[in-house]
Amino acid sequence: KTRSIIRGVGGYLPEKIVTNAELAKTVDTSDEWIQERVGIKERHIAAEGEFTSDLAVAAAKKALEASGLTPDDIDLIIVATTTPDYTFPSVATLVQMKLGMHHGMAFDIQAVCSGFVYAVATADSYLKNGLGTRALVIGAETFSRLLDWTDRTTCVLFGDGAGAVIMERVELADDAPEQGVLATALRSDGHHWDKLYVDGGPSTTGTTGHVHMRGPEVFRHAVGKITDVVYATLEKTGYTVEDLDWFVPHQANKRIIEGAGAKLGLPPEKVVMTVALHANTSAASVPLALSAAVADGRIKQGDLVMLEAMGGGFTWGASLIRW
Ligand code: ACO
Repeated sequence: KTRSIIRGVGGYLPEKIVTNAELAKTVDTSDEWIQERVGIKERHIAAEGEFTSDLAVAAAKKALEASGLTPDDIDLIIVATTTPDYTFPSVATLVQMKLGMHHGMAFDIQAVCSGFVYAVATADSYLKNGLGTRALVIGAETFSRLLDWTDRTTCVLFGDGAGAVIMERVELADDAPEQGVLATALRSDGHHWDKLYVDGGPSTTGTTGHVHMRGPEVFRHAVGKITDVVYATLEKTGYTVEDLDWFVPHQANKRIIEGAGAKLGLPPEKVVMTVALHANTSAASVPLALSAAVADGRIKQGDLVMLEAMGGGFTWGASLIRW
C-alpha cells in the first residue's frame, strides 16, 4: 500500500498580539461581544515588513526540525494562501528560495480557508502518483492586510499565522498497521462567491481590496456543509464518528465549531480549538491547530484525526489521517 504519512508539524505566530480590548479602542465593539459571538480573545498580527512567505518559512523550519529532515529532503512545496507576497510568483517559490533550495517543484493553492485541506489532498495525490517523495505543505496568511480596520463586522474575526506539515510517501506492507492519509473529500460551489469575498484583484480593480462577508449566511451554510463532508470522508473508509480520536476543524468561529461538533455527536474534549488565541487565520488555521495539539501531546502516533475546513467560494473539505 502506498501512503502519505505526516512526518512532522510546525506552527508560527507573529509576535504582536492584539486583544479585543485594544480593537475596541478603534472600532465600536467590545470584548464581550466578540467572545460571545465568535469565541475570539486575541489575534496575532504580522509586523510591517513581515510577509506571508516569512511566516511560511518560520513554520516550515519548525516542521522540518520536528521531522528530523532538511530542505534537501523535500521535493514538493505547496503553500495554501489567499494573501501572497506578490500577485506572482507564488509564495511557494519564495519559500523554496528562502530555504536555500534549487531543486523540486513549488506552487500555491487558493481555496481560502479550505486551502490547507486542499493542499494536503493535492500533496497526497502527487506523492501517491510518484510526482515527489516528501512534501512541505504550508498554510500561511497575512489576512490582516485584507481587512478594513474600520469595519467591525469583519476586522475582529481574523489573524495572521502559518502552519506546516511534512508529508512523505511510504510503502506499507499489507499487514502493517495503517498510517497516513486514509481518505479525503473536497467540495466547492462558486454560486456562493459573493457571500465572502475580497472586492479587489488584478483583473477587476487592480487593487488588493478588502474582505466582505454576509456573516449570518456564511454561518447558516457552515455547519451543514462541514458535517456533510466529514460524513462523506468517513464513508470512504468504513470508520464512524465514534472511531475519531481528534477533530481538527478550521478555526473560524467557536459557535460554528461547537455546532458542527454537536451535530456530529463528538464529545467536546475531542475537538481541538485554538480560535480564542489565534482568531481565524484562514488557510493557516488547521495546521496551526494541528501543531498546537501535537506539541502538547494530545495527538499522538496511531490516533485517528479528522481535519476539516470551509471558506470563501464556498470551498470545503475534510481529510482523515491515521497519525
Ligand atoms: N461588535 C459589536 N457589534 C457588532 C460587531 C462587532 N464586532 N459586528 C457586528 N455587530 C452588530 C451588527 O452591526 C448588528 O447590529 P444591528 O443589529 O444594530 O444591525 C448586530 O451586531 C448583529 O449582527 P449580525 O451580523 O446579525 O450578528 P450575528 O449574530 O449573525 O453575528 C457573526 C455575526 C459573528 C459574524 C456571525 O454571523 C458569524 O459567526 N458568521 C460566520 C462568519 C465567519 O465565521 N466567517 C469567517 C470566515 S468563513 C469561514 O471561515 C467558515
